[in-house]
Amino acid sequence: MSDKRKDTGTSSNQMWGGRFAEGPSAIMREINASIPFDKALWRQDIAASKAHAQMLGTQGIISEADCEAIIGGLGQIADEYTRDGVPEDWDLEDIHMTVEARLTELIGPAAGRLHTARSRNDQVATDFRLWVRDTIDQTEALLAQLQLALLSQAEAHADSIMPGFTHLQTAQPVTLGHHLMAYFEMIERDRNRFNDARTRLSMSPLGSAALAGTGFPIDRDMTAKALGFAAPTRNSLDAVSDRDFALDILMAASQCALHLSRLAEEFIIWASQPFGFVRMADSLSTGSSIMPQKKNPDAAELVRGHTGRIIGCATSLMITMKGLPLAYSKDMQDDKPPVFEAAGLLELCIAAMTGMVADSSFNTARMRQAAELGYATATDLADWLVREADVPFREAHHITGAAVKRAEADGVALDQLPLSVLQEIDSRIDDRVFGALSVDASVASRNSYGGTAPDQVKAQIAAAKERMGMKQ
Ligand code: ARG
Repeated sequence: MSDKRKDTGTSSNQMWGGRFAEGPSAIMREINASIPFDKALWRQDIAASKAHAQMLGTQGIISEADCEAIIGGLGQIADEYTRDGVPEDWDLEDIHMTVEARLTELIGPAAGRLHTARSRNDQVATDFRLWVRDTIDQTEALLAQLQLALLSQAEAHADSIMPGFTHLQTAQPVTLGHHLMAYFEMIERDRNRFNDARTRLSMSPLGSAALAGTGFPIDRDMTAKALGFAAPTRNSLDAVSDRDFALDILMAASQCALHLSRLAEEFIIWASQPFGFVRMADSLSTGSSIMPQKKNPDAAELVRGHTGRIIGCATSLMITMKGLPLAYSKDMQDDKPPVFEAAGLLELCIAAMTGMVADSSFNTARMRQAAELGYATATDLADWLVREADVPFREAHHITGAAVKRAEADGVALDQLPLSVLQEIDSRIDDRVFGALSVDASVASRNSYGGTAPDQVKAQIAAAKERMGMKQ
Protein backbone atom coordinates (compact mmCIF):
# COMPACT_ATOMS: atom_id res chain seq x y z
CA MET A 1 0.00 0.00 0.00
CA SER A 2 1.45 3.33 -0.96
CA ASP A 3 2.04 6.02 1.64
CA LYS A 4 -0.48 8.21 -0.06
CA ARG A 5 -3.14 5.69 0.85
CA LYS A 6 -2.69 5.99 4.63
CA ASP A 7 -5.73 7.30 6.44
CA THR A 8 -5.52 10.98 7.23
CA GLY A 9 -7.36 10.49 10.50
CA THR A 10 -10.07 12.87 11.58
CA SER A 11 -8.89 16.13 10.06
CA SER A 12 -11.67 17.53 7.98
CA ASN A 13 -11.01 18.67 4.42
CA GLN A 14 -10.11 22.34 4.35
CA MET A 15 -12.19 23.26 1.32
CA TRP A 16 -15.46 21.45 1.86
CA GLY A 17 -15.01 19.83 5.25
CA GLY A 18 -17.35 22.19 7.10
CA ARG A 19 -20.19 19.74 7.48
CA PHE A 20 -18.12 16.57 7.91
CA ALA A 21 -17.23 15.30 11.36
CA GLU A 22 -14.40 13.12 10.09
CA GLY A 23 -11.88 13.38 7.30
CA PRO A 24 -12.32 11.28 4.19
CA SER A 25 -11.31 7.67 4.56
CA ALA A 26 -8.22 6.48 2.78
CA ILE A 27 -10.28 4.84 0.07
CA MET A 28 -12.35 7.94 -0.43
CA ARG A 29 -9.24 10.06 -0.80
CA GLU A 30 -7.85 7.71 -3.37
CA ILE A 31 -10.95 7.27 -5.47
CA ASN A 32 -11.69 10.97 -5.32
CA ALA A 33 -8.28 12.27 -6.31
CA SER A 34 -7.90 13.30 -9.92
CA ILE A 35 -4.69 15.26 -9.37
CA PRO A 36 -2.53 12.33 -10.62
CA PHE A 37 -3.91 12.94 -14.10
CA ASP A 38 -5.66 16.33 -14.16
CA LYS A 39 -2.45 18.10 -13.21
CA ALA A 40 -1.90 18.05 -16.98
CA LEU A 41 -4.48 20.86 -17.08
CA TRP A 42 -2.44 23.28 -14.96
CA ARG A 43 -1.68 25.79 -17.71
CA GLN A 44 -5.31 25.98 -18.75
CA ASP A 45 -6.48 26.15 -15.13
CA ILE A 46 -4.23 29.11 -14.40
CA ALA A 47 -5.18 30.87 -17.65
CA ALA A 48 -8.89 30.47 -16.88
CA SER A 49 -8.42 31.64 -13.29
CA LYS A 50 -6.57 34.73 -14.45
CA ALA A 51 -9.37 35.56 -16.88
CA HIS A 52 -11.98 35.01 -14.16
CA ALA A 53 -10.08 37.15 -11.61
CA GLN A 54 -9.62 39.94 -14.14
CA MET A 55 -13.33 39.92 -14.88
CA LEU A 56 -14.25 39.90 -11.16
CA GLY A 57 -11.98 42.92 -10.70
CA THR A 58 -13.34 44.81 -13.69
CA GLN A 59 -16.91 44.17 -12.58
CA GLY A 60 -16.10 45.40 -9.07
CA ILE A 61 -17.00 42.02 -7.58
CA ILE A 62 -13.57 41.91 -5.95
CA SER A 63 -11.27 44.83 -5.19
CA GLU A 64 -8.52 46.01 -7.54
CA ALA A 65 -5.94 45.07 -4.92
CA ASP A 66 -7.26 41.51 -4.51
CA CYS A 67 -7.49 41.13 -8.27
CA GLU A 68 -3.86 42.15 -8.68
CA ALA A 69 -2.70 39.93 -5.84
CA ILE A 70 -4.57 36.94 -7.28
CA ILE A 71 -3.22 37.43 -10.79
CA GLY A 72 0.31 37.98 -9.50
CA GLY A 73 0.09 34.86 -7.34
CA LEU A 74 -1.21 32.78 -10.23
CA GLY A 75 1.74 33.94 -12.34
CA GLN A 76 4.10 32.85 -9.59
CA ILE A 77 2.43 29.43 -9.39
CA ALA A 78 2.85 29.03 -13.13
CA ASP A 79 6.57 29.74 -12.75
CA GLU A 80 6.84 27.20 -9.96
CA TYR A 81 5.03 24.49 -11.93
CA THR A 82 7.13 25.16 -14.99
CA ARG A 83 10.25 24.79 -12.89
CA ASP A 84 9.33 22.02 -10.45
CA GLY A 85 6.23 20.34 -11.81
CA VAL A 86 2.84 20.16 -10.11
CA PRO A 87 2.80 18.73 -6.56
CA GLU A 88 0.50 15.76 -6.09
CA ASP A 89 -1.41 15.89 -2.82
CA TRP A 90 -4.46 13.64 -2.80
CA ASP A 91 -6.06 15.70 -0.05
CA LEU A 92 -6.31 18.57 -2.50
CA GLU A 93 -8.18 16.25 -4.90
CA ASP A 94 -7.64 18.01 -8.19
CA ILE A 95 -5.71 20.68 -10.05
CA HIS A 96 -8.28 23.35 -9.19
CA MET A 97 -7.90 22.92 -5.42
CA THR A 98 -4.15 22.41 -5.74
CA VAL A 99 -3.75 25.80 -7.42
CA GLU A 100 -6.11 27.52 -4.99
CA ALA A 101 -4.33 26.03 -1.97
CA ARG A 102 -0.97 27.26 -3.23
CA LEU A 103 -2.48 30.67 -3.96
CA THR A 104 -3.67 30.85 -0.35
CA GLU A 105 -0.16 30.06 0.86
CA LEU A 106 1.23 32.79 -1.36
CA ILE A 107 -1.24 35.66 -0.97
CA GLY A 108 -3.34 34.77 2.06
CA PRO A 109 -7.12 35.19 2.44
CA ALA A 110 -7.53 37.18 -0.81
CA ALA A 111 -7.08 33.83 -2.58
CA GLY A 112 -10.45 32.80 -1.18
CA ARG A 113 -12.13 35.47 -3.35
CA LEU A 114 -11.06 33.85 -6.62
CA HIS A 115 -13.79 31.24 -6.39
CA THR A 116 -16.55 33.90 -6.23
CA ALA A 117 -19.21 33.29 -8.90
CA ARG A 118 -17.50 30.12 -10.03
CA SER A 119 -17.60 26.39 -9.29
CA ARG A 120 -15.20 23.60 -10.07
CA ASN A 121 -17.91 22.40 -12.42
CA ASP A 122 -17.64 25.31 -14.85
CA GLN A 123 -13.94 25.53 -14.09
CA VAL A 124 -13.11 21.99 -15.18
CA ALA A 125 -15.37 22.26 -18.22
CA THR A 126 -13.48 25.40 -19.24
CA ASP A 127 -9.99 24.06 -18.52
CA PHE A 128 -10.62 20.84 -20.37
CA ARG A 129 -12.01 22.63 -23.41
CA LEU A 130 -8.90 24.78 -23.51
CA TRP A 131 -6.70 21.68 -23.25
CA VAL A 132 -8.59 19.94 -26.05
CA ARG A 133 -8.30 23.05 -28.20
CA ASP A 134 -4.51 23.20 -27.71
CA THR A 135 -4.23 19.51 -28.49
CA ILE A 136 -6.26 19.86 -31.66
CA ASP A 137 -3.85 22.57 -32.81
CA GLN A 138 -0.85 20.32 -32.15
CA THR A 139 -2.48 17.35 -33.86
CA GLU A 140 -3.36 19.44 -36.87
CA ALA A 141 0.25 20.58 -37.24
CA LEU A 142 1.48 16.98 -37.05
CA LEU A 143 -1.07 15.85 -39.62
CA ALA A 144 0.12 18.59 -41.97
CA GLN A 145 3.65 17.10 -41.69
CA LEU A 146 2.30 13.70 -42.63
CA GLN A 147 0.50 15.21 -45.60
CA LEU A 148 3.74 16.83 -46.75
CA ALA A 149 5.53 13.49 -46.54
CA LEU A 150 2.76 11.82 -48.56
CA LEU A 151 2.82 14.63 -51.11
CA SER A 152 6.52 14.47 -51.67
CA GLN A 153 6.56 10.68 -52.13
CA ALA A 154 3.49 10.90 -54.37
CA GLU A 155 5.22 13.50 -56.50
CA ALA A 156 8.33 11.35 -56.81
CA HIS A 157 6.16 8.39 -57.81
CA ALA A 158 3.42 9.97 -59.91
CA ASP A 159 4.51 7.68 -62.79
CA SER A 160 5.57 4.60 -60.80
CA ILE A 161 3.34 1.72 -61.70
CA MET A 162 2.07 -0.80 -59.20
CA PRO A 163 -0.83 -3.21 -59.09
CA GLY A 164 -4.05 -1.71 -57.77
CA PHE A 165 -5.99 -4.19 -55.69
CA THR A 166 -9.53 -5.12 -54.89
CA HIS A 167 -9.96 -7.98 -52.40
CA LEU A 168 -6.14 -7.74 -52.21
CA GLN A 169 -6.15 -9.40 -55.63
CA THR A 170 -4.45 -7.62 -58.51
CA ALA A 171 -7.16 -5.57 -60.22
CA GLN A 172 -5.84 -2.82 -62.50
CA PRO A 173 -2.54 -1.01 -62.66
CA VAL A 174 -2.37 2.26 -60.76
CA THR A 175 0.47 4.56 -59.86
CA LEU A 176 2.09 4.63 -56.45
CA GLY A 177 1.53 8.38 -56.45
CA HIS A 178 -2.20 7.81 -56.87
CA HIS A 179 -2.21 5.25 -54.05
CA LEU A 180 -0.36 7.56 -51.65
CA MET A 181 -2.62 10.49 -52.55
CA ALA A 182 -5.60 8.38 -51.45
CA TYR A 183 -4.14 8.60 -47.93
CA PHE A 184 -3.55 12.30 -48.37
CA GLU A 185 -7.32 12.64 -48.93
CA MET A 186 -8.09 10.66 -45.78
CA ILE A 187 -5.74 12.82 -43.71
CA GLU A 188 -7.30 15.94 -45.16
CA ARG A 189 -10.71 14.74 -43.98
CA ASP A 190 -9.18 14.03 -40.57
CA ARG A 191 -7.87 17.56 -40.36
CA ASN A 192 -11.31 18.83 -41.28
CA ARG A 193 -12.84 16.74 -38.54
CA PHE A 194 -10.41 18.15 -35.96
CA ASN A 195 -11.18 21.64 -37.24
CA ASP A 196 -14.92 21.06 -36.96
CA ALA A 197 -14.40 19.88 -33.39
CA ARG A 198 -12.39 23.02 -32.68
CA THR A 199 -15.13 25.28 -34.00
CA ARG A 200 -17.81 23.49 -32.01
CA LEU A 201 -15.91 23.67 -28.73
CA SER A 202 -15.38 27.40 -29.02
CA MET A 203 -17.93 28.37 -26.35
CA SER A 204 -16.94 29.29 -22.83
CA PRO A 205 -18.66 27.45 -19.95
CA LEU A 206 -17.06 29.84 -17.42
CA GLY A 207 -19.73 31.65 -15.40
CA SER A 208 -22.19 28.75 -15.55
CA ALA A 209 -21.04 28.14 -11.98
CA ALA A 210 -22.19 24.91 -10.32
CA LEU A 211 -25.14 24.37 -12.68
CA ALA A 212 -27.57 27.28 -12.52
CA GLY A 213 -25.47 30.37 -13.20
CA THR A 214 -24.76 32.98 -10.55
CA GLY A 215 -26.32 36.03 -8.92
CA PHE A 216 -23.09 38.03 -9.14
CA PRO A 217 -22.93 40.61 -11.93
CA ILE A 218 -20.34 38.73 -13.99
CA ASP A 219 -19.40 39.45 -17.60
CA ARG A 220 -19.27 36.14 -19.41
CA ASP A 221 -18.46 37.74 -22.75
CA MET A 222 -15.33 39.18 -21.22
CA THR A 223 -13.98 35.85 -19.95
CA ALA A 224 -14.99 34.09 -23.17
CA LYS A 225 -13.06 36.64 -25.18
CA ALA A 226 -10.03 36.59 -22.89
CA LEU A 227 -9.78 32.83 -23.32
CA GLY A 228 -10.17 32.94 -27.09
CA PHE A 229 -13.67 31.47 -27.22
CA ALA A 230 -16.18 32.76 -29.76
CA ALA A 231 -18.97 33.21 -27.19
CA PRO A 232 -20.22 32.05 -23.78
CA THR A 233 -22.27 28.84 -23.68
CA ARG A 234 -26.03 29.48 -23.74
CA ASN A 235 -27.30 27.03 -21.13
CA SER A 236 -25.59 26.62 -17.78
CA LEU A 237 -26.90 23.08 -17.18
CA ASP A 238 -25.60 21.96 -20.55
CA ALA A 239 -22.32 23.83 -20.08
CA VAL A 240 -21.27 22.01 -16.92
CA SER A 241 -22.41 18.57 -18.05
CA ASP A 242 -21.45 18.63 -21.73
CA ARG A 243 -18.47 16.55 -22.73
CA ASP A 244 -19.21 16.50 -26.46
CA PHE A 245 -15.98 18.36 -27.10
CA ALA A 246 -14.07 15.50 -25.48
CA LEU A 247 -16.05 12.95 -27.47
CA ASP A 248 -15.51 14.96 -30.64
CA ILE A 249 -11.74 14.85 -30.29
CA LEU A 250 -11.91 11.13 -29.45
CA MET A 251 -14.05 10.44 -32.53
CA ALA A 252 -11.75 12.48 -34.74
CA ALA A 253 -8.76 10.71 -33.19
CA SER A 254 -10.38 7.30 -33.70
CA GLN A 255 -11.10 7.94 -37.35
CA CYS A 256 -7.65 9.40 -37.90
CA ALA A 257 -6.03 6.42 -36.18
CA LEU A 258 -8.14 4.11 -38.29
CA HIS A 259 -6.63 5.73 -41.40
CA LEU A 260 -3.12 5.51 -40.00
CA SER A 261 -3.74 1.86 -39.20
CA ARG A 262 -4.80 1.16 -42.78
CA LEU A 263 -1.67 2.88 -44.07
CA ALA A 264 0.43 0.93 -41.55
CA GLU A 265 -1.17 -2.27 -42.82
CA GLU A 266 -0.21 -1.36 -46.40
CA PHE A 267 3.41 -0.98 -45.31
CA ILE A 268 3.32 -4.29 -43.43
CA ILE A 269 2.05 -6.07 -46.55
CA TRP A 270 4.35 -4.20 -48.92
CA ALA A 271 7.41 -4.88 -46.75
CA SER A 272 6.76 -8.64 -46.62
CA GLN A 273 9.17 -10.72 -48.73
CA PRO A 274 6.58 -12.06 -51.20
CA PHE A 275 5.58 -8.45 -51.98
CA GLY A 276 8.93 -6.72 -51.60
CA PHE A 277 7.44 -3.38 -52.65
CA VAL A 278 9.05 -1.30 -49.95
CA ARG A 279 12.15 -1.15 -47.83
CA MET A 280 11.30 0.47 -44.58
CA ALA A 281 13.84 2.68 -42.85
CA ASP A 282 16.01 0.81 -40.35
CA SER A 283 15.13 3.48 -37.82
CA LEU A 284 11.50 2.31 -37.77
CA SER A 285 12.12 -1.43 -37.90
CA THR A 286 13.50 -3.98 -35.48
CA GLY A 287 15.41 -7.22 -35.79
CA SER A 288 14.56 -10.62 -34.39
CA SER A 289 16.53 -12.02 -31.46
CA ILE A 290 16.55 -15.46 -33.07
CA MET A 291 16.13 -15.08 -36.84
CA PRO A 292 19.01 -13.01 -38.23
CA GLN A 293 17.37 -12.36 -41.59
CA LYS A 294 14.35 -10.63 -40.06
CA LYS A 295 13.58 -6.96 -40.30
CA ASN A 296 10.24 -6.47 -38.64
CA PRO A 297 7.82 -3.59 -39.28
CA ASP A 298 7.17 -3.12 -35.56
CA ALA A 299 6.38 0.58 -35.76
CA ALA A 300 3.67 -0.10 -38.33
CA GLU A 301 2.30 -2.98 -36.28
CA LEU A 302 2.19 -0.79 -33.18
CA VAL A 303 0.31 1.92 -35.05
CA ARG A 304 -2.19 -0.76 -36.02
CA GLY A 305 -2.25 -1.94 -32.40
CA HIS A 306 -2.49 1.52 -30.83
CA THR A 307 -5.49 2.25 -33.03
CA GLY A 308 -7.40 -0.35 -31.04
CA ARG A 309 -6.52 1.45 -27.84
CA ILE A 310 -7.52 4.85 -29.23
CA ILE A 311 -10.90 3.53 -30.33
CA GLY A 312 -11.18 1.95 -26.88
CA CYS A 313 -10.72 5.40 -25.33
CA ALA A 314 -13.61 6.78 -27.39
CA THR A 315 -15.79 3.85 -26.37
CA SER A 316 -14.82 4.33 -22.74
CA LEU A 317 -15.99 7.93 -22.57
CA MET A 318 -19.20 7.24 -24.47
CA ILE A 319 -20.06 4.59 -21.92
CA THR A 320 -19.15 6.92 -19.04
CA MET A 321 -21.47 9.60 -20.37
CA LYS A 322 -24.43 7.64 -21.63
CA GLY A 323 -26.37 7.30 -18.38
CA LEU A 324 -25.75 10.64 -16.74
CA PRO A 325 -28.66 12.89 -15.87
CA LEU A 326 -28.11 16.67 -15.77
CA ALA A 327 -26.00 18.25 -14.57
CA TYR A 328 -22.48 17.42 -13.30
CA SER A 329 -21.81 13.97 -11.82
CA LYS A 330 -18.46 12.82 -10.52
CA ASP A 331 -18.35 10.09 -13.16
CA MET A 332 -17.36 12.91 -15.47
CA GLN A 333 -14.02 13.23 -13.75
CA ASP A 334 -13.18 10.05 -15.65
CA ASP A 335 -13.41 11.97 -18.91
CA LYS A 336 -9.77 12.96 -18.85
CA PRO A 337 -7.68 9.76 -18.81
CA PRO A 338 -9.09 8.40 -22.09
CA VAL A 339 -8.66 11.75 -23.83
CA PHE A 340 -5.11 12.16 -22.56
CA GLU A 341 -4.25 8.59 -23.51
CA ALA A 342 -5.75 8.81 -26.98
CA ALA A 343 -4.08 12.16 -27.69
CA GLY A 344 -0.67 10.85 -26.63
CA LEU A 345 -1.01 7.66 -28.64
CA LEU A 346 -2.26 9.48 -31.71
CA GLU A 347 0.62 11.93 -31.62
CA LEU A 348 3.07 9.03 -31.57
CA CYS A 349 1.24 7.20 -34.36
CA ILE A 350 1.22 10.26 -36.63
CA ALA A 351 4.93 10.81 -36.03
CA ALA A 352 5.68 7.14 -36.76
CA MET A 353 3.71 7.15 -40.00
CA THR A 354 5.27 10.43 -41.10
CA GLY A 355 8.73 8.93 -40.65
CA MET A 356 7.67 5.73 -42.38
CA VAL A 357 6.29 7.52 -45.41
CA ALA A 358 9.21 9.96 -45.66
CA ASP A 359 12.05 7.47 -45.17
CA SER A 360 10.86 4.37 -47.02
CA SER A 361 12.30 3.48 -50.36
CA PHE A 362 10.01 1.85 -52.87
CA ASN A 363 11.11 -0.97 -55.17
CA THR A 364 9.40 0.40 -58.25
CA ALA A 365 10.77 -2.30 -60.58
CA ARG A 366 9.23 -4.97 -58.40
CA MET A 367 5.92 -3.13 -58.21
CA ARG A 368 5.77 -2.76 -61.99
CA GLN A 369 6.61 -6.44 -62.44
CA ALA A 370 3.82 -7.42 -60.04
CA ALA A 371 1.37 -5.34 -62.08
CA GLU A 372 2.54 -6.91 -65.32
CA LEU A 373 2.47 -10.50 -64.12
CA GLY A 374 -0.81 -10.05 -62.30
CA TYR A 375 -2.68 -9.56 -65.61
CA ALA A 376 -3.77 -6.20 -64.38
CA THR A 377 -4.50 -5.05 -67.95
CA ALA A 378 -7.11 -7.73 -68.60
CA THR A 379 -9.87 -5.12 -68.38
CA ASP A 380 -8.01 -3.09 -70.99
CA LEU A 381 -8.07 -6.03 -73.40
CA ALA A 382 -11.80 -6.48 -72.85
CA ASP A 383 -12.38 -2.74 -73.29
CA TRP A 384 -10.29 -2.77 -76.49
CA LEU A 385 -12.44 -5.59 -77.96
CA VAL A 386 -15.58 -3.61 -77.14
CA ARG A 387 -14.23 -0.35 -78.54
CA GLU A 388 -12.32 -1.54 -81.61
CA ALA A 389 -14.04 -4.78 -82.61
CA ASP A 390 -17.59 -4.00 -81.47
CA VAL A 391 -17.67 -7.14 -79.29
CA PRO A 392 -20.34 -7.10 -76.55
CA PHE A 393 -18.64 -6.65 -73.15
CA ARG A 394 -19.74 -10.03 -71.74
CA GLU A 395 -18.22 -11.82 -74.72
CA ALA A 396 -15.09 -9.65 -74.53
CA HIS A 397 -14.79 -10.62 -70.86
CA HIS A 398 -14.88 -14.29 -71.86
CA ILE A 399 -12.27 -13.88 -74.63
CA THR A 400 -10.01 -12.02 -72.24
CA GLY A 401 -10.34 -14.80 -69.71
CA ALA A 402 -9.02 -17.23 -72.29
CA ALA A 403 -6.08 -14.92 -73.05
CA VAL A 404 -5.21 -14.63 -69.35
CA LYS A 405 -5.36 -18.40 -69.00
CA ARG A 406 -2.96 -18.80 -71.90
CA ALA A 407 -0.54 -16.15 -70.61
CA GLU A 408 -0.61 -17.78 -67.19
CA ALA A 409 0.17 -21.18 -68.72
CA ASP A 410 3.07 -19.66 -70.68
CA GLY A 411 4.27 -17.66 -67.66
CA VAL A 412 4.24 -14.34 -69.52
CA ALA A 413 2.54 -10.97 -69.22
CA LEU A 414 -0.54 -10.33 -71.39
CA ASP A 415 1.30 -7.99 -73.74
CA GLN A 416 4.01 -10.63 -74.21
CA LEU A 417 1.62 -13.09 -75.89
CA PRO A 418 2.42 -13.17 -79.62
CA LEU A 419 -0.27 -11.76 -81.92
CA SER A 420 -0.73 -15.19 -83.52
CA VAL A 421 -1.66 -16.67 -80.16
CA LEU A 422 -4.09 -13.85 -79.45
CA GLN A 423 -5.67 -14.28 -82.87
CA GLU A 424 -6.08 -18.01 -82.23
CA ILE A 425 -8.20 -17.00 -79.25
CA ASP A 426 -10.19 -14.45 -81.26
CA SER A 427 -9.52 -13.53 -84.85
CA ARG A 428 -10.87 -9.99 -84.42
CA ILE A 429 -7.76 -9.05 -82.42
CA ASP A 430 -5.11 -7.18 -84.44
CA ASP A 431 -1.74 -5.66 -83.56
CA ARG A 432 -3.23 -2.37 -82.42
CA VAL A 433 -4.16 -4.24 -79.25
CA PHE A 434 -0.59 -3.94 -77.96
CA GLY A 435 -1.14 -0.23 -77.63
CA ALA A 436 -3.67 -1.00 -74.90
CA LEU A 437 -2.07 -3.97 -73.15
CA SER A 438 1.01 -2.47 -71.51
CA VAL A 439 0.64 -1.30 -67.95
CA ASP A 440 1.81 2.17 -69.03
CA ALA A 441 -0.90 2.42 -71.66
CA SER A 442 -3.50 1.16 -69.22
CA VAL A 443 -2.59 3.70 -66.58
CA ALA A 444 -2.33 6.57 -69.08
CA SER A 445 -5.78 5.75 -70.43
CA ARG A 446 -7.51 6.18 -67.04
CA ASN A 447 -7.59 9.89 -67.47
CA SER A 448 -11.00 10.59 -65.97
CA TYR A 449 -11.07 13.21 -63.21
CA GLY A 450 -9.52 11.65 -60.11
CA GLY A 451 -8.25 8.68 -62.10
CA THR A 452 -4.82 7.07 -61.96
CA ALA A 453 -3.32 8.54 -65.18
CA PRO A 454 -0.08 10.32 -64.20
CA ASP A 455 -1.46 13.58 -65.62
CA GLN A 456 -4.46 13.33 -63.32
CA VAL A 457 -2.30 12.41 -60.33
CA LYS A 458 0.02 15.34 -61.01
CA ALA A 459 -2.95 17.69 -61.29
CA GLN A 460 -4.24 16.43 -57.92
CA ILE A 461 -0.81 16.87 -56.35
CA ALA A 462 -0.70 20.46 -57.63
CA ALA A 463 -4.20 21.14 -56.28
CA ALA A 464 -3.26 19.59 -52.94
CA LYS A 465 -0.17 21.78 -52.70
CA GLU A 466 -2.32 24.79 -53.31
CA ARG A 467 -4.74 23.77 -50.55
CA MET A 468 -1.72 23.35 -48.26
CA GLY A 469 -0.65 26.88 -49.14
CA MET A 470 2.59 25.68 -50.75
CA LYS A 471 4.41 27.57 -53.45
CA GLN A 472 4.52 25.59 -56.72
N1 ARG B 1 -11.95 17.15 -10.46
C1 ARG B 1 -13.31 17.35 -10.86
C2 ARG B 1 -13.49 16.82 -12.29
O1 ARG B 1 -12.54 16.66 -12.97
C3 ARG B 1 -13.66 18.80 -10.80
C4 ARG B 1 -15.12 19.04 -10.59
C5 ARG B 1 -15.52 18.70 -9.23
N2 ARG B 1 -16.85 19.15 -8.96
C6 ARG B 1 -17.56 18.65 -7.95
N3 ARG B 1 -18.72 19.11 -7.78
N4 ARG B 1 -17.09 17.72 -7.20
O2 ARG B 1 -14.58 16.55 -12.71
